[in-house]
Amino acid sequence: MSNLVFVINGPNLNLLGGREPEIYGQTTLDDIRQIATDSADSAGLSIDFRQSNEEGALVDWIQEASRDAAGLIINGAGYTHTSVAIMDALLASAVPVIEVHLSNIYKREEFRHHSYISRAAQGVICGFGADVYTLAILAMSKLLESDKA
Ligand code: DQA
Repeated sequence: MSNLVFVINGPNLNLLGGREPEIYGQTTLDDIRQIATDSADSAGLSIDFRQSNEEGALVDWIQEASRDAAGLIINGAGYTHTSVAIMDALLASAVPVIEVHLSNIYKREEFRHHSYISRAAQGVICGFGADVYTLAILAMSKLLESDKA
């Protein structure tokens, strides 16, 4: 089985580092890509790390992950709370999905408490800043190991 995991990031996450640092911290998306790559190396996984501001691109990548990868980690950003299209793509996906958010969405405005992505996710990790990516890679490696057993 492939050990490739897609890590898909949604809108405005390209601005990390400068965007509302009191909420999202100083870490840039490039820093997160490096952290995720190192975590994947340690877990014996390889990752394909992507970001788009466009809903359709995210849907296409979810479909691609379902065909080509063993698992999918997604930070849907704002689309988490609005996108039936992303939820449908994830529900159609053949691979395990882990949802991540840098911030604790349940501690924030009420409109962030609902996630369409959660309906399709095996689990959700939020509120630990950039560490959510490391935690998700660890969780994904355990899921994929147990699938092999
Ligand atoms: C986010 C939380 C979302 O509510 C928000 O729209 C984002 C980032 C997070 O990582 O904390 O853009 O997904």
